[in-house]
Amino acid sequence: MSVPSAVELARLDALSDPGFLLVEAVVEGDAEPVILYREGAQVRAWLNVCPHAGRPLDWAPGQFLKSRDGHLVCAAHGAAFELQGGNCVSGPCKGDALRAVPVRVEDGRVLLG
Ligand code: FES
Repeated sequence: MSVPSAVELARLDALSDPGFLLVEAVVEGDAEPVILYREGAQVRAWLNVCPHAGRPLDWAPGQFLKSRDGHLVCAAHGAAFELQGGNCVSGPCKGDALRAVPVRVEDGRVLLG
């Protein structure tokens, strides 16, 4: 039985630290825009779909707002998300969360799954 090869989303060094990178990935069969967020050697990922009104969070393609207290802020109506679990901590969808995408870092590459 062959092991499927891992899907590379980005090189780790393509992300600033800390920083965001917008990529496309096939998630559950659909091509989706995915936010990668790097913090040191760790990368977390969420769909670029705000739980408030389904809009992308970036104000221009791949350009994300980060508040002074370290939250990702949706450019549409200002919902703020903490960057561990993607939970909305203030704004119109407080209590909701971004949809997490499983990723891992291996050999300097950010892999899906
Ligand atoms: S769509 Fe993100 S706050 Fe409204």
